[in-house]
Amino acid sequence: MLIQDRLKSFVLRKGRITSNQKRAINELWGRFVIDGSRNLESSWAEKPSALDIGFGAGETTIHLAKTKPEMSVLGAEVYLSGIGSLLSKADEESLNNISILNEDVVPFLKERVPDDCFNLILMFYPDPWPKRKHHKRRLLQKDFIDLLNKKLKVGSVFYFKSDWEHYFQEASKLLFKNNEWRVIEKRELENYLVDLPQTSFERKALASGRKLNELILEKII
Ligand SMILES: C[S@@+](CC[C@H](N)C(=O)[O-])C[C@H]1O[C@@H](n2cnc3c(N)ncnc32)[C@H](O)[C@@H]1O
Repeated sequence: MLIQDRLKSFVLRKGRITSNQKRAINELWGRFVIDGSRNLESSWAEKPSALDIGFGAGETTIHLAKTKPEMSVLGAEVYLSGIGSLLSKADEESLNNISILNEDVVPFLKERVPDDCFNLILMFYPDPWPKRKHHKRRLLQKDFIDLLNKKLKVGSVFYFKSDWEHYFQEASKLLFKNNEWRVIEKRELENYLVDLPQTSFERKALASGRKLNELILEKII
């Protein structure tokens, strides 16, 4: 399947937006949100940079930006409430190394991002699409894994977490099949990637009794 033919991994619903999120969107949009119809500046590939795919409420994005001030952190999310939360926290913490993409990350990565660009890509708890008929909407499929590989620099890390056993197993099979990756042990990671904050999705998954799985890989080719 060609990546442009794939079904979207999200369905946009009108979610509730708090007054704080609304204020942050009105006041801070221009400072942090990038124009997804334009190419990501090639300078991104020249400095340490990270991409947090589907950042939800932005806890991990904030953590990366705070603990690695020398790193440029790009967070991608389609939900406005999440963008509002991240904008508000980024402002509160006076962070100036965060950029936000409020669009589907798939075409953006494919068309607007140079290859060998990021030093780190995180994908934590992507939407599980549990019904069999919806599995094709899952983001982490063969074509997307190949795309992520292209956009990472050699020696860089792809960190994937899922609370959905079937999704995790299927994605792991694809990643293991591929000799472009090497599995990394947690102890090989820098501290800032070991002490990650718990996200609200993670809390919900644990409260529902689901097991949290993770896979950390280094791009070797
Ligand atoms: C279950 S949440 C996980 C949030 C967060 N990573 C965490 O750990 O709490 C998955 C998020 O991915 C976002 N998402 C799904 N497909 C996306 C896409 N193609 N581009 C950007 N964001 C996407 C959804 O809007 C959703 O907020």
